[in-house]
Amino acid sequence: MAFVNTNFTKVSESYLFVEVARRIKAYQEAHPEAKIIRMGIGDVTRPIVPAVIEALHKAVDEMGTADGFRGYGPEQGYAFLREAICNYDFKQRGIDIQPDEIFVSDGAKSDCGNIGDILGQQNVIAVTDPVYPVYVDTNVMGGRAGDFDGIRYSRICYMPCTQENGFVPTLPSQHVDVIYLCFPNNPTGTTLTKSQLKVWVDYALREKSIILFDAAYEAFITEDDVPHSIYEIEGARQCAIEFRSFSKTAGFTGLRCGFTVVPKELVAYTEEGKAVALNRLWNRRQSTKFNGTPYIVQRAAEAVYSPEGRAQIMANIAYYRENARLMKQTFESIGIPAFGGVNSPYVWIRTPLDSWQFFDRLLDECHVVGTPGVGFGPSGQGYFRLTAFATHEATREAMERIKKWKL
Ligand code: MLT
Repeated sequence: MAFVNTNFTKVSESYLFVEVARRIKAYQEAHPEAKIIRMGIGDVTRPIVPAVIEALHKAVDEMGTADGFRGYGPEQGYAFLREAICNYDFKQRGIDIQPDEIFVSDGAKSDCGNIGDILGQQNVIAVTDPVYPVYVDTNVMGGRAGDFDGIRYSRICYMPCTQENGFVPTLPSQHVDVIYLCFPNNPTGTTLTKSQLKVWVDYALREKSIILFDAAYEAFITEDDVPHSIYEIEGARQCAIEFRSFSKTAGFTGLRCGFTVVPKELVAYTEEGKAVALNRLWNRRQSTKFNGTPYIVQRAAEAVYSPEGRAQIMANIAYYRENARLMKQTFESIGIPAFGGVNSPYVWIRTPLDSWQFFDRLLDECHVVGTPGVGFGPSGQGYFRLTAFATHEATREAMERIKKWKL
C-alpha cells in the first residue's frame, strides 16, 4: 500500500486563480455573447520587448551551432546573468550582493514554494493577511500549517493588513520563526517605507527569525522612500532571503525566469542550536532538484539589463502604471475607496459587499473579472483586487462600464 502525503489533503480544494478561472469559464459558457474583460490574475498583456526578442533569437541560433550549443547549464544560473543582476539590481543601488548569492530559477512562485524544503517543519510561520496564497498553501503542503478551521490554519500567525492599520502589519505578539513579506504587496498594492521595513529586520535579528521577502513588484515603485530590496536595510543580509521575478517586470509570465538571493552569512539552526548556512543548503537543494533555467531564457533575461532593454521594459511598466492610475481614479470618483496602484500594478478596493458577491455581480453586470479579496485571506473579506495588466483599451472600457454600474 502506498501512503499519501496527507498534508496535501489539508490544502483548499483548488488554487485561488484556478477557482476564478473555473467560474469565468462557466459564466462564459452560459453567456457566450458576454465580452469579458479579465483583470483577475496578474498576467501581463504587453508583448516582450524587442531587445529581449533579439537576444532570444540570437541564443536560439547559437544552440544550432557546434560552438554555441549548450547542454546542462549551471543549476545556479549562468555567470553572465548573475553578474548582470548583481550590477544592476544591487551594486547600482549601493547594495553588496555577490553572484554566488544569486540563484536563477524559473520564477519567484517556484522559489517561494520550494524554499520550504530547507526550513524545519517546526518553524512557526507568519504571513500578512491578505496574502499571496502560495505562501500559505506551500506551508500546508509542507506540514507547518496545522489544522484548518474553515477560515485559518491553527499554526500560522496571520498579521492583518487592512485600511484600518494602513495595510502595515504589526509585529506579532508571539515569537515567529519565518516571516513572509511581499512589498510592494500582492494583493493590496501597498508598500512599506524603509523605516517600516527596518522594524521587521530588527525583529528578525533579535528573534533569530528569517524574513522571506518577495520583491516581485519592485520595478513598479515610484516613491523614493520605498525600498526596492530588503538588503537596503542594515542587517538584512543576516536575516533575509529575497525573491525576484522577471514576470511582471519584463513580461516573462510565459518565458519563466526569476531569481532568489541567499546571502552567505544567513543561517538557520538545528534543534541543538548549531547554525547552518542557508546559501550552501539552497545550492544543494537546487543542484539536486533543479537543472537550471534554459540558456535561451537566461540570455533573454540578460537583455532586460541592456540599455535598450531597460528603456523598453520601463515603457511597458509606465503603460501599466497609467492603467493603475485610471482604475484608482475611477473607483474614487464613484465613492469606492481604492488603495495601491501607485507603486504597484494592483488596485485594492473596499467593496460595499462580501468579496465573492462583488465578484459575481461585477462579472454578471459589467462582464469584468477581478479577484475576491477574501481569496487572499480572512482579512481580505470585503475587498477586491483588480490588476493593471490589461491593455489600455480594455482598462478604459472596464472603467466606463463600472462608472455606469448601479451597484
Ligand atoms: C497574481 O495574480 O497574484 C499573480 O499573477 C500570481 C503569480 O505571480 O503567480
